[in-house]
Amino acid sequence: MVTIKRIIVLGSGRGSNFQALIDAERKNLFPGRIITFITDNPNAHAIERARKGEIPFFIIDFSLFHNKNQYEEKLLETMLSCAPDLIVLAGYMRIVGEKIVKQFKNHLINIHPALLPSFPGLNAQLQAIEYGVRITGCTIHFVTEEMDAGPIILQKEVYVDENENVESLAEKILAFEHKCLPYAVKLFCEDRLIINDRHVKILPRVS
Ligand code: GAR
Repeated sequence: MVTIKRIIVLGSGRGSNFQALIDAERKNLFPGRIITFITDNPNAHAIERARKGEIPFFIIDFSLFHNKNQYEEKLLETMLSCAPDLIVLAGYMRIVGEKIVKQFKNHLINIHPALLPSFPGLNAQLQAIEYGVRITGCTIHFVTEEMDAGPIILQKEVYVDENENVESLAEKILAFEHKCLPYAVKLFCEDRLIINDRHVKILPRVS
């Protein structure tokens, strides 16, 4: 029997993917509950979304810590206190450290606005335009120690038009992110993801 999963969402800014998850949860699209939102940025618009959605949130202001280790200690402690089944990096703009990755191995997923392994890191849409690719997209993957390199759960392609700019491309990709991320969360919450080394098998739905 599938149990209701406890989900933490981490984000650093606008929070539109976080909103997509809130909306999906409200529609019962996955057997999970967003128990907490955590941000490293006190000015993140996502905080407002948490307030409106009545989701408890923590602001762990990165700038108040002496170094990344101290920040991550606090982050880890906060996450552990929530006893999550799943942590979703939804626009979280920091590389998660080894200790946290190890602690939540196979329970930590990230969304990236490119078809990995192409264009990892920041400004993925700009990288795609500068490279001149005809197709890019978004990727949802498990997080491992190596940045943007964990086992892939889902990918969706997006075509790059002739006169595309970063903003128009980011917007097109984002529309698919908002569909793919809740779907990946659904697959996780339904215990349908089996990780075997680099490969993620998606089990059929049990009716
Ligand atoms: C999204 O496009 C997400 O894929 C990207 O940041 C944006 C956040 O938007 N994430 C990364 O680039 C991570 N490397 P949102 O705050 O509106 O969800």
